[in-house]
This record gives sequence, C-alpha cells and structure tokens, in this order.
Amino acid sequence: MRVLSGIQPSGRLHIGNFFGAMNQHLKLQTEHDAFYFIAEYHALTSNPSPKELKKHTLDVAMDYIALGLDTKKTVFWRQSDLPEVTELAWILSCITPMGLLQRCVSYKDKVAQGLAPNHGLFAYPVLQAADILIFNSDLVPVGADQKQHIEVTRDIAIKFNNTYGEIFTVPEEHIIESVAVVPGIDGRKMSKSYNNTIEIFESEKRVKKKIMSIVTDSTPVEQPKDYENCNVFALLKLVASPDELKQWESKYKAGGMGYGDVKKRLAELMIDYFKPYREKRTELENNIDDVKQTLANGAERAKTVAQKTLQKVRKAVGLGN
Ligand code: ADP
Ligand code: TRP
Repeated sequence: MRVLSGIQPSGRLHIGNFFGAMNQHLKLQTEHDAFYFIAEYHALTSNPSPKELKKHTLDVAMDYIALGLDTKKTVFWRQSDLPEVTELAWILSCITPMGLLQRCVSYKDKVAQGLAPNHGLFAYPVLQAADILIFNSDLVPVGADQKQHIEVTRDIAIKFNNTYGEIFTVPEEHIIESVAVVPGIDGRKMSKSYNNTIEIFESEKRVKKKIMSIVTDSTPVEQPKDYENCNVFALLKLVASPDELKQWESKYKAGGMGYGDVKKRLAELMIDYFKPYREKRTELENNIDDVKQTLANGAERAKTVAQKTLQKVRKAVGLGN
C-alpha cells in the first residue's frame, strides 16, 4: 500500500506537530511504501521570504530525519524538485469545477486570518490533488483540517478517470487520530501562528523555561486540582508512563501538590523523550550537504514514478506526439 503525505515548511517543528502528525508518519513508514515530501509550492501561497522558505525547508528535513525517517526505505524529497507536479496541477485545473474549490473552507479561513487572497491559495487543493495522484497513492495520512482536500482529490480523480480513462488510483484519507489537540504554553492549540509552541529541538534550557511558564489555574497548593482540564497534565499524558500518570492523577486529586512540581517533572520527561534524537539533529546541522544529497536522492526516486504517471496523463488528454 502506498502512503503519501506532504509537510509544509513553516518553521522548526513543535511537539504539537510531532504528536499530532509526525509520529504517525514515522510509524506508517515501517508498515507501508511511504512517500513524504516538503510542500514548498504550498508554502509559497502565504508568501514567505525566499530566505525563510529555504531555511524552513532544510529545518523540516533535518527534524524528520533526526526523528527517525528512514531515508533508505521511505522516499523523501522537496516538492520543487519535481515540477511534473505543477504540470499535472494545470491539467487537473482544467477539469476542476470552480464550485468544488469555492466550497473549500481552508481558503476562506486563511483569508479571514489575513493572508492575501491570491490565486495560488484558491487553487491550493488542485496542487494537493496533483501531489497525491501523480504517485498513485492509496492512503493519505492527514490531520482533520485536511479532510476536505482529500475529498476534493477523490472528486477530481473520479472525474478525470470518467473523462479520459482509468489512470488514477482514487485515494483514501487516513485521518490521523491525533492525541487530541496538544495545548500550547498559553493553553490554546499549540501552533506557530499563536507563538505558544515548544519546539522539538530547542535548547533544553528553553524547553524547561517554557514548560515552567505554562498557564495553569490559581488553585492553592493544598487544594485538589482538576487534572482533566490542566494544560500541564495534557502534556504529561504524551510522555509519562501509564503508571506515573496514575500517580500524578492521584496527587492532583489529593491536593497538597503545587503546579511547579508537576511542571519540573514534565520538563524532565519531555527533554528525555527527545534526547536520543538531539545528537542526530546536531550531526545533520553540521553536514547540510548530506541532507541536501538525501533530498536529491529522494527526488530522483520520486521522479521515476511521477514521470510515468504524467506520460500516461499527457497521452490520455492529447498532448505531445
Ligand atoms: P501550525 O498550527 O503550527 O502551523 P501546521 O498546521 O503546519 O501547524 O500542522 C502540521 C501538522 O501538525 C498537521 O497535520 C496538524 O494536524 C498537526 N498539528 C499541528 N498543531 C497541532 C496540535 N497542537 N495538536 C495536534 N496536532 C497538531
Ligand atoms: N496541505 C497540507 C497541510 O497543510 C500539506 C500537503 C500538501 C499535503 N500536499 C499534500 C498533505 C498531499 C497530504 C498530501 O498540512
């Protein structure tokens, strides 16, 4: 089964990204034929500076590789190394009804958040369809916010197949059952846009400082505390063993525990959790050319598949000889 997903290069990845998406990507690569890429063309829709886009692309690549992406088995590349995808996106655009895109909520959401309403942002789901269909993907692991884009992909694939013959595999979405939403240090959803993240690879000192600043309620030390609605406990669930979690649950219920205690333990556990990968991350930073080479090798493997599909598509629609 071929699994494919794209990751937007929008900065260093945070623990919300890890527990909400990456962790599942890494697990799926062991069971399936996995294809993962860094979606720079999609990131361009929000007009990052050229410097930022380049830096973020390498940061995402290093984060994934450091955390265990198996670059020998899994195909991992930069979207922009395969312009075939943009050609297919154009061909698909020509059979995509305007109404299908007008119904997409992500365009409206992004414009409401203040992004410039450019054409790329509107056509974004067609490019995503091209990404998915050019590799004959069976399964697309994504967060719930991307569900509509996979439905659009399916509609486009079915329409194309009905018009020009059975060329595309109609993919299934695999909604990542995320460990609920990971809260940020201010209690809202952890997100780069809220500036409330804990990055996976920031310094241990900063991780600790951020964890110590997590917003909690003002229940006095001696009183019982509501673990179910506590931001610290929500993060503890991600990294503590079931036994230890039970012990903290009892301490919350009993009272006599200050939030400082549980925060200190959370910082220790969080730092330990990612410790084995830190060294690898530093090693990659010191060997950027190897990282670029890894991406280039991935692009070469991906290209073989993409060119085959594109050739069939060009023939089917009447382009070329
Ligand atoms: P951000 O909100 O920081 O910009 P993205 O939208 O780029 O993050 O998210 C990339 C992936 O990480 C998505 O699949 C998304 O579902 C997941 N993700 C991001 N933030 C969280 C979070 N706080 N909790 C769970 N999953 C998250
Ligand atoms: N739109 C996805 C996101 O923001 C990223 C993406 C681009 C993607 N192309 C894809 C995801 C193809 C899955 C399949 O998270």
